[in-house]
Amino acid sequence: MKVLIVYSSKYGAATWAAEEMKKNLEQSGEAECSLVNIRNQTPPSPDNYDGIILGSSVFAGQVNKKIITWGENHTAELKKKPLGLFVTCLASGETAIGYIESNFPPALLAHAKAKDSTGGLADFATFGWLDRFLLKNVAKLTETTDSRDPDRVKEFVQKFIQ
Ligand SMILES: Cc1cc2nc3c(=O)[nH]c(=O)nc-3n(C[C@H](O)[C@H](O)[C@H](O)COP(=O)(O)O)c2cc1C
Repeated sequence: MKVLIVYSSKYGAATWAAEEMKKNLEQSGEAECSLVNIRNQTPPSPDNYDGIILGSSVFAGQVNKKIITWGENHTAELKKKPLGLFVTCLASGETAIGYIESNFPPALLAHAKAKDSTGGLADFATFGWLDRFLLKNVAKLTETTDSRDPDRVKEFVQKFIQ
């Protein structure tokens, strides 16, 4: 199974999630994965892949618009294949799932086999000054927070391939 993971990552947490997914999928012997960060690469056509995973980090409740547009432009092809949708963010539980439900198009949400948050990372050492300022003054976060969860990634991959 050839899997394409198209994601948006500004600081690396969604890249971490995509790489964990690739590792899990390839270890299972089920798949060969290609990763594309849509912030700096153009994704290939989904036609040559057997399964697609779309993901994005969340800023102010929003996933990256390019991910949504790419999903909308390829809805017909994506509905013919196994599909996974993920977000990386600091929120957990219903809030995190809510980001998926409120951002991705209904047709993709209805078709997806796996939908989840993989946790997130806010690293004050790598964030730009504006993002540090917003986190401190709007989100009231004062220190580096890491909620990335390899077990959730494993469960996500299990649902995607089952
Ligand atoms: C300006 C700013 C706004 C953010 N807004 C949210 C938010 O609304 N909800 C949330 O759960 N996390 C929020 N986060 C945390 C990011 O989603 C988290 O750091 C994520 O892991 C970043 O992923 P990336 O490294 O792949 O870009 C925000 C972070 C920044 C810097």
